[in-house]
Amino acid sequence: MLFLLLPLLAALFPGGDSNEPVSLHVMWTSYFHNHSWVHVGSGWLGELQTHRWNRSSGTVIYLYPWSRGNFSNKELVDVERLFQLYFNEHQDFYIYELMFKAGCDLHSGKGFINFLHVAIGGYDFLSFQNETWSPSPNSGRKAQKACKLLTLDQDNTYRLHRILSDTCPRFTLGLLDAGKAHLQRQVKSEAWLSSGPSPGPGRLLLVCHVSGFYPKPVWVMWMRGEQGQLGTQRGDILPNADGTWYLRATLDVAAGEVAGLACRVKHSSLGGQDLVLYWAPQKSLGWIFLAVIVALALLTVFCIHISCLSLLPKALPFFLIFIFFSLFLLL
Ligand SMILES: *[C@@H]1O[C@H](CO)[C@@H](O)[C@H](O)[C@H]1NC(C)=O
Ligand SMILES: *[C@@H]1O[C@H](CO)[C@@H](O)[C@H](O)[C@H]1NC(C)=O
Ligand SMILES: *[C@@H]1O[C@H](CO)[C@@H](O)[C@H](O)[C@H]1NC(C)=O
Ligand SMILES: *[C@@H]1O[C@H](CO)[C@@H](O)[C@H](O)[C@H]1NC(C)=O
Repeated sequence: MLFLLLPLLAALFPGGDSNEPVSLHVMWTSYFHNHSWVHVGSGWLGELQTHRWNRSSGTVIYLYPWSRGNFSNKELVDVERLFQLYFNEHQDFYIYELMFKAGCDLHSGKGFINFLHVAIGGYDFLSFQNETWSPSPNSGRKAQKACKLLTLDQDNTYRLHRILSDTCPRFTLGLLDAGKAHLQRQVKSEAWLSSGPSPGPGRLLLVCHVSGFYPKPVWVMWMRGEQGQLGTQRGDILPNADGTWYLRATLDVAAGEVAGLACRVKHSSLGGQDLVLYWAPQKSLGWIFLAVIVALALLTVFCIHISCLSLLPKALPFFLIFIFFSLFLLL
């Protein structure tokens, strides 16, 4: 199983990331609240947020030193002004909630593909691609009418097309280059085990937490020896606040079958050395105490039997040392 998975992993790990489309996109929401418009905007390079809109000043906040890519200040201010212009001009719309997502995806071999989707009041309304406005399916007559009107405005349509098909790709390439050190960094994960809520009588839910890794591709599996446990359930890979990732993998097992189970993690940051965490039964300390007490009781009974009770206090320290030494070796 592991052998079959290894080539797959090799393909997933860096070096193989050229197959993943890289996208630069802007998410924008404007809504009317308490007699005024609120604009919430953010810029994303793939799954990494690189920009934010400052609501009070109406300017872009660059979240990383490299978030300016290779654009000059003038070109950055021009783009910023476009947002200011557009969203101030349209403040007296009858719309109460507008959302859009626009940007460009870099596909290996196919170059950039750009997109713009607009939703109104939470529903898809229209989209723009390749100089063409199209109403979204089921968006009704209003969207068709809006598309007709927008198409008539040739200057703005062409300007938008230029931004998506020229500015966006140039900016994306510049960003990828400027942010190379950050985007290609390797962050080692930490991992720990816990037990989840019992799935049923006599069953245990083993949980393997893997947190703080970067980049995103990761492989986590519950194993018995070299055998991957097919019952391993992987959760979604969730973002940590610091830009790294978190994942949990669970396994539902009979309580009697936990011995020898381990959680195995493969990640590009680990340099080929898998992280392996063995499930240590949580009751083990209780069992150790029980074993010591039973041994002491047996010794006492034995002593009473051969009437050596008077010797017992002297022998006890040696006996305890013997027991702890044996346990130490066992563990
Ligand atoms: C609404 O805005 C006004 C100022 O424009 C402010 O004084 C008031 O506290 C706001 N109300 C709420 C509920 O935010
Ligand atoms: C947003 O703009 C305001 C007003 O210009 C400024 O005081 C504030 O520092 C800005 N916030 C950030 C995070 O840059
Ligand atoms: C975009 O439109 C141009 C003509 O305006 C056409 O040549 C091209 O094939 C279109 N591309 C896509 C992806 O639709
Ligand atoms: C930024 O980098 C991209 C890709 O390397 C390049 O095409 C572009 O001309 C550069 N400069 C500007 C101002 O876009």
